[in-house]
Amino acid sequence: MDHLTAGTVEEAVAALAEAGALVREDTPRAARDEEIERRWGAWAPEAAFLHYASQDIYDDSDAETDPDASVRGEALEPVLFTEYPHAARVLLPRAGGRPELDTPYGHVLYERRTHRDFTDEPVSVETLATLLATCFGPVDFIDSGRSALYRRTSPQGGARQELDAYLGVLNVSGLAAGWYHYNGLQHSLELLAEGLTREEAGALCAGQEWAGEAAFLVVLAARLERMSCKYATPRAYRVSLLNAGHLGQTFALTATALGLGPFQTGAFCDTPLAERCALDNIGQTPLYVLAAGHPRPHPRRAAPPRATVAAFASTRIGPGPGTAG
Ligand SMILES: Cc1cc2nc3c(=O)[nH]c(=O)nc-3n(C[C@H](O)[C@H](O)[C@H](O)COP(=O)(O)O)c2cc1C
Repeated sequence: MDHLTAGTVEEAVAALAEAGALVREDTPRAARDEEIERRWGAWAPEAAFLHYASQDIYDDSDAETDPDASVRGEALEPVLFTEYPHAARVLLPRAGGRPELDTPYGHVLYERRTHRDFTDEPVSVETLATLLATCFGPVDFIDSGRSALYRRTSPQGGARQELDAYLGVLNVSGLAAGWYHYNGLQHSLELLAEGLTREEAGALCAGQEWAGEAAFLVVLAARLERMSCKYATPRAYRVSLLNAGHLGQTFALTATALGLGPFQTGAFCDTPLAERCALDNIGQTPLYVLAAGHPRPHPRRAAPPRATVAAFASTRIGPGPGTAG
């Protein structure tokens, strides 16, 4: 450090403060930082950084207009559908107008629950096929002005469809246990890896063994370049998380309409899960895990009991009269 002098250090500190990387003590910004640390608690700094670093920056700058993008080779429109052309594949049955989704909407909405207890009855490949096509298959194709895009039954930011569905099969009639990619264009399953046990599925869902009792898992994985080639702003990452939630809800409602019990989790072991789905966990990374199976009519794991007066008595329901906040 011999080359440093008080002058160069002061200059560096001033530059870092100017750039916002250093915050001067006893300033409003320092007070705000402390408040963030206090209120975000154990989530800080990681989650707070993601949140604030992508806040207030909604410019809709288009990666296409970035002159360096073509130099970096990013301007190419990525493929619309992920495909594993060399994988062995199973062509899924097409619904052919079967009225499987005609369950009344009110029933579906209010019957949907998160299930953690499943029977050993296999899910039929027809039911699985309907669920996958309904949630993840294309509904129609639109012209974005620079290429064709497709739409699904769920809204997806920019209709980029960056989320691909990978399938862990445990107990589906006619399908060998293993890991597959759902090819929505072909309506086929592409085999990525053979074999999947209940123990492995539970372990991959961060030790939640009931996930291993489901008939299958669906891993939603973001293919980032499908989003980033269009949106240069890091805020678009947040949109991918929101997109995953939309697909998850459609999955839960559709599974319910088909008589299945859905489950979803944000708790999973990202690295081994990515490996099993043949994802590099760089440009293709898992965001959300869904599952379903035939629900046990009388679950062995008791559903949470109804809240009683005693439960409400120990609940802060809202601010009392005359209090603020
Ligand atoms: C994003 C998300 C993540 C969840 N993660 C888990 C989980 O890891 N384990 C679990 O048992 N339930 C999980 N759940 C289910 C919730 O606990 C459940 O939705 C909540 O208790 C309300 O019950 P309901 O879904 O039956 O309305 C998750 C739900 C969502 C939406």
